[in-house]
Amino acid sequence: MTDKIERLLAEVEAFAPRTAAEIEEFRVRLLGRKGELNALMDEFKSVAPEMKRELGQKLNHLKNRAMERVNELKSDLEAHAAEPAGSLGDLTRPGTAQPLGSRHPLSLVRNEICGIFERLGYVVAEGPEIEDDWHVFSALNFPPEHPARDMQDTFFIEKDPDILLRTHTSSIQVRVMQSQKPPIRVICPGRVFRNEAISYRAHCIFHQIEGLYIDENVSFADMKQSLLYFVREFFGEQTRIRLRPSYFPFTEPSAEMDISCNLCGGKGCNVCKHTGWLEIMGCGMVDPNVLEACGIDSKKYSGFAFGMGVERSAMLKYGVKDLRLYFENDVRFLHQFDTAL
Ligand code: PHE
Repeated sequence: MTDKIERLLAEVEAFAPRTAAEIEEFRVRLLGRKGELNALMDEFKSVAPEMKRELGQKLNHLKNRAMERVNELKSDLEAHAAEPAGSLGDLTRPGTAQPLGSRHPLSLVRNEICGIFERLGYVVAEGPEIEDDWHVFSALNFPPEHPARDMQDTFFIEKDPDILLRTHTSSIQVRVMQSQKPPIRVICPGRVFRNEAISYRAHCIFHQIEGLYIDENVSFADMKQSLLYFVREFFGEQTRIRLRPSYFPFTEPSAEMDISCNLCGGKGCNVCKHTGWLEIMGCGMVDPNVLEACGIDSKKYSGFAFGMGVERSAMLKYGVKDLRLYFENDVRFLHQFDTAL
């Protein structure tokens, strides 16, 4: 009987449960009504009287230890379960994966477009979103009565007709021409503002990327070749371009550039309205008036400029049909572009 008591005591000390159920099972097996301890108590009744004292003490010790141990293990387990989040706990347990965000599709497209021109030697330039009339209109040869200056198009700051939100990033180019000497090669990304009704194809806030190249003997052919290079890099090797005469106050001659529709390959579809062509940017040779207004000798230097909408380029590249999706920040939409570039 002594052996049995010793064996059970060792078992009590060594017991290392992981769940509350294991502790309960252990308790029932030892201390339950039909458990090992009660069995020993029955046996105890029939031991010789001279042995009773010693064995009784041992049995009592085993019973107390078993009860203590069960209580200890239970409170240990509870304390562990209630461990506050952020405390160290088991350092070897597997980590919790952090969900990663993704770049906004407009940022991806802006970075890609800037990257293409940077490889051609252009440098990124930025400027203020709140501008004055001179940088947005006057220096760019806009006549005083030009409709773009109208309240319908431009957001003015506190009714002061001189302070306004830029309607295009050409204002950055004015700042560059005033502060740098040719050769100038800049690419100007930024947010622009126009007082337009919001629809699937227009928003009052959108993004532009404009470029400017000024040096001696810069020609229309240089512009055409640079833009063709850009289009092939961005939309694919097989893309063709077409230039149509147009008008901007700050360029002369001016053109709109179309690309062959990358969805139908030029055969005609809904997106290109069955023309096979998609309009993507305005461009032209910088008007000598603009060069002079910015302190550049128009007899010595010439240059070209171009400008495109980032939303429109992104829509054409990804086949997105509603421009408003770019501003709603629905992660189900945004996450689709994770690995797109
Ligand atoms: N600034 C023009 C716009 O906002 C785009 C443009 C830039 C056109 C440069 C020609 C040359 O629409």
